[in-house]
Amino acid sequence: MARIPIIIDCDPGVDDALALLLALASPDELEVLGVTAVGGNVALAKTQYNAQRILALAGREEVPVHAGSASPMLIDLHTTDVHGSDGIGGAALPEPTAPLASVNGVTYLNESLAARPGEITLCCLGPLTNPGLAICNQKNVLGDARRVVLMGGSSERGNVTAYAEFNFFVDPHAARLVFLSGADLVMLGLNLTRQVPITAARVAQIAAVGTRAAKAAQQMLTVYGRGDTAMHDPCVIAYLLQPELFSGHQALVDIEINDAERIGQSVVGDPTEIGITNALVLDKIDADGFFDLLCERLARLP
Ligand code: BDR
Ligand code: CA
Repeated sequence: MARIPIIIDCDPGVDDALALLLALASPDELEVLGVTAVGGNVALAKTQYNAQRILALAGREEVPVHAGSASPMLIDLHTTDVHGSDGIGGAALPEPTAPLASVNGVTYLNESLAARPGEITLCCLGPLTNPGLAICNQKNVLGDARRVVLMGGSSERGNVTAYAEFNFFVDPHAARLVFLSGADLVMLGLNLTRQVPITAARVAQIAAVGTRAAKAAQQMLTVYGRGDTAMHDPCVIAYLLQPELFSGHQALVDIEINDAERIGQSVVGDPTEIGITNALVLDKIDADGFFDLLCERLARLP
């Protein structure tokens, strides 16, 4: 299988960190071209630093980290304390030795996708501010992506409000732009990621891997698992690695931006009624297969 070139847009974030580790541990399948950071779970200064530290942990500091947008497109940033005040549950991670890339993350998305039309898969693990701003710079930018595979939304209850999932709640306007963009979209929402709960037994399974990366994962998940019990973002990377673990259906997804109570809600329409679709909405995952994959890959890291 040819390697899939990917860019990871993220807000680490414990589960973002696990997703980065899973991708970095899979060089036979994934070519990680770059990481773009966004303000989300915690402020941008922390998410970019955490991305750098995860690359250092994985021994992959040749991958550039680009700082993107500090705050959502039209509203103020809403952060969360679920990931601890540093965003990685206070885990002891190595200090980065590589500097941040000089090019802004939004510019990097515009330039990279335009340079290789139809080739790069964009993996979005945080609020969609960076791709949203990239669309404002160049309206067809996501059409140049091979696919956009994103964690966000839900076809069921939200996790910030009854209606909205965190990433879409934080930047609903950017999410709406992405779903209107015409890109080839794959959505992994809470309805899917809640099928991979972080239990004590799963954390023990990860810790038993024994590598430095697995121990860091254990530290991070022990804190994170007290506030959020689902392994959201790594599902995006697992989908690229083993799509046979997943199933889903085509749907027309729209993001609520007007109603104050429902803002950020992903409204997943019934394709048989509407007739047009804009995303593959994943709705089932093999949780055992997912954790086996994660542990197998964590064993390959230092
Ligand atoms: C999403 O919100 C964040 O807290 C997680 O990193 C994940 O991307 C889940 O709603
Ligand atoms: Ca995230």
